[in-house]
Amino acid sequence: MAGINTKRRNLLSAAALLPLAPLARALSLTPSAMEGPFYPTSSMRFDDVDNDLVKVEGAVKAAGGEVIQLNGRLVDSDGDAIANATVEIWQCDATGRYLHSADRRSEPRDAGFQGFGRAQTDSDGRFNFRTIKPVPYPGRTPHIHVKVIDQGFELLTSQLYLDGHPGNARDFLYQRMSTEQQQRVSMRFEQDSTQTDVLLVV
Ligand SMILES: [Fe+2]
Repeated sequence: MAGINTKRRNLLSAAALLPLAPLARALSLTPSAMEGPFYPTSSMRFDDVDNDLVKVEGAVKAAGGEVIQLNGRLVDSDGDAIANATVEIWQCDATGRYLHSADRRSEPRDAGFQGFGRAQTDSDGRFNFRTIKPVPYPGRTPHIHVKVIDQGFELLTSQLYLDGHPGNARDFLYQRMSTEQQQRVSMRFEQDSTQTDVLLVV
């Protein structure tokens, strides 16, 4: 018995000499990405900037496109929730048009698509949006822009992608990321599901 105890004591003292390592590996951060040229022009935004981009207040028609539920959670690299932060998303409508004066493509804009919305994170860091599955537009693979603002400070500007979309292989911004970073900003949909869960780590 004494021998075992001695061995155990030796192990314990050896452990005490190790540098203090974090118990769990910190979460990898969500990579930031350029805001892009189409952060919605204030004057072109609808008065309605809630988290349901598919229904514009007062509009007769709902947005065209495939409606999805985007569920998210905002945490720091320790995995701790960040509450009461503002999450903004913006994306083009089903025909590829942004709510921006510099978007001069000729396709008519979808008056039923809000194009820009925001949500507040709850005490668990959770937020959600109803929007459409992003579509490609010339030069880009489908993506949803996202920005996180907390107490007046921008914590993150990034873009979310469709996992496995063939356009990702040709997209210069997507290809600039490591595989781990690509995973972090990928939206996955189970078969026949219109819901996706993303984790934003800032
Ligand atoms: Fe974009």
